[in-house]
Amino acid sequence: MLGRLPPCVIDVGTGYTKLGFAPNKEPQMIIPSAIAIKETAKVGDQAVRRLTKGVEDLDFYIGDEAFDAKGYSVKYPVRHGLIEDWDLMERFLEHCIFKYLRAEPEDHHFLLTEPPLNTPENREYTAEIMFETFNVPGLYIAVQAVLALSASWKSRPLHERVLTGLVVDSGDGVTHIIPVAEGYVIGSCIKHIPIAGRNITYFIQSLLREREIGIPPEQSLETAKAIKERYSYICPDIAKEFAKYDSEPSKWLRKYEGINSVTKQPFSVDVGYERFLGPEIFFHPEFSNPDFTTPISEMVDTVIQNCPIDVRRPLYDNIVLSGGSTMFKDFGRRLQRDIKRVVDARLKRSEKIAGDNLKDFF
Ligand SMILES: Nc1ncnc2c1ncn2[C@@H]1O[C@H](COP(=O)(O)OP(=O)(O)OP(=O)(O)O)[C@@H](O)[C@H]1O
Ligand SMILES: [Mg+2]
Repeated sequence: MLGRLPPCVIDVGTGYTKLGFAPNKEPQMIIPSAIAIKETAKVGDQAVRRLTKGVEDLDFYIGDEAFDAKGYSVKYPVRHGLIEDWDLMERFLEHCIFKYLRAEPEDHHFLLTEPPLNTPENREYTAEIMFETFNVPGLYIAVQAVLALSASWKSRPLHERVLTGLVVDSGDGVTHIIPVAEGYVIGSCIKHIPIAGRNITYFIQSLLREREIGIPPEQSLETAKAIKERYSYICPDIAKEFAKYDSEPSKWLRKYEGINSVTKQPFSVDVGYERFLGPEIFFHPEFSNPDFTTPISEMVDTVIQNCPIDVRRPLYDNIVLSGGSTMFKDFGRRLQRDIKRVVDARLKRSEKIAGDNLKDFF
């Protein structure tokens, strides 16, 4: 039996869980990493919940169903990529496997993912749940960034299939910049950027709030998110982009149509500058966050410069994007151009310093 059934792949992210079977190229399902449990006095405490396992165990919902369950409270077992509530995680995985993948865990090998800098304890605990609760016959826990590198192989010729590269992984809660050399993450050089999908959604929400009064307040977040995912893109130059919109608004403006969930009346939103201003905060973080102002291109350059000298060139040569928030049109193109500018400026500065020193010398 074993060996014929395909391995199950589960990537539990902060916002979304991606589920499927190897060797498919895409996940079969993408569901919110949310779990709804019955509102009772004891649910708040992980330890108490653990003691009261029983019939209640099955009384929970995950994914989109979690938001529809009345009288339940919605929790997210993963925060900033790390599992925070193991008890909920176990139940979440249970539904993922039995209800969504419809798999018998004893019959499949499993590929799970972990964020960079996951602790060995977390990894062991994950393995314990998989082997002892679900009785899986085999398990591999891969670092998401390393998987992103090997996923990029499918579009490359054989000689370019290397496991050295710089991964920019931007999901919902956080953006990581992760250098990988020969399949090993250079942990001490990883950097985080506190700008990711959720921040872009909040930023678009705030831009819309000032202008669009027709959006029902309780739907403003989901509306901003839908507008972001449907209409946003990355532009080469914001001043020129503003000018484009002003000279030919009908070509660039979009209309978002929504339904008020309470009155069931339709409402519409004019979508304008937010199309490009939203994701622009990767490159101009100061638009939305006064405490963090370094553009993503400079962060990438700093990370590579902190790495051992012999891997710097292969890292610049192989920058791989992963995560939902890198799906904006032209993200890669803009990042590449801006990194080139940062590198050129640095080279110019160092040439000048070297030149001045030589002048002193002679
Ligand atoms: N087409 C799209 N364009 C832009 N952003 C998108 C698109 N589709 C999804 N997103 C955004 O991607 C984010 C989710 O990405 P992903 O599934 O990689 O995150 P995650 O793995 O759950 O989170 P993390 O990696 O932070 O733990 C959300 O903010 C979502 O709004
Ligand atoms: Mg992720």
